[in-house]
Amino acid sequence: MPSSTPSSSLFDRWSATYDLPGLQRFTYRPIHDAIVAQLAEAHPSTVVDLGCGTGQLTRRLIERFPDAAVIGVDFSAGMLAEATGRLGPNPADHPALVQAEAERLPFGPSSVDVVVCTESFHWYRDQAEALDGLAEIVRPGGRVLVASIATMTGLGDDIVRRLTSRGGRPIRALPPERLRRLLDRAGFEVVDQRRVPRLGLIGWPVLTDARHP
Ligand SMILES: C[S@@+](CC[C@H](N)C(=O)[O-])C[C@H]1O[C@@H](n2cnc3c(N)ncnc32)[C@H](O)[C@@H]1O
Repeated sequence: MPSSTPSSSLFDRWSATYDLPGLQRFTYRPIHDAIVAQLAEAHPSTVVDLGCGTGQLTRRLIERFPDAAVIGVDFSAGMLAEATGRLGPNPADHPALVQAEAERLPFGPSSVDVVVCTESFHWYRDQAEALDGLAEIVRPGGRVLVASIATMTGLGDDIVRRLTSRGGRPIRALPPERLRRLLDRAGFEVVDQRRVPRLGLIGWPVLTDARHP
C-alpha cells in the first residue's frame, strides 16, 4: 500500500476532487488529446506516464498501445489510489502503478521507449535532476513528451516561482526556451514545441517533444 509523504500531501488532498468532470474536460483533457495525437505514429514497447495522477491519461495510453507495458508513476498515495480505482483493482488488468519521485525513478538504464509527463513537471523540486534521470532511463531513439504550464518570459517564470513559494510549493512555469535549454543540457534534442489551448490560470501549457539521440 503506497504511503503519503509530507511533499506529496497537497496532491493526496487534491486527489479527492481531481476528477471533477468539468475540470478534466476543459483543463486536462485537451493536453491528453495533444499527447495521444503526438504519439500517433509511435510503436513503443514501454511507456512511462510520469506524474500520472488519477490515471486518466494512463488509461488512454493503455487503450492506444495495447501491446506495450504502460507504467504510471506518481509520488502521491492519494492520486495512486484513484488511479488504481480507475484502472481496476486486479493488477493483471492494469499496468504497474509505481509510487516514486520523479527525481528518483526505479527503472534501469535505457529501459523505456517513451516518457510522457503532463501537468506535473512544473511541480518538480529539481527539474534538471529529473531530466538527467530521464536521460538515463530513456533508450537512444526514445522520446520524452513534457506538457507543462509555461510563462512567456523568464521574468514571468521568476514571478510565478516567487508567488507560489509563499505557499511552500514553488511552481517553475518555464518559458519554452528555458525548458529547451534544460532538455539540451540533459542530452535530449527538442523536435517540437507548441502551446495547447485549454482553460487555466497561467496561459496555455506548452507541449515539448524531445528525442534522445
Ligand atoms: C496536476 S497533477 C497531473 C496528473 C496527470 N498527469 C494529468 O495530466 O492529469 C500533477 C501530478 O504530479 C505528481 N507529482 C508532482 N511532483 C511529483 C514528483 N516530484 N514526483 C512524482 N510525482 C509528482 C502529483 O502527485 C500529481 O499527481
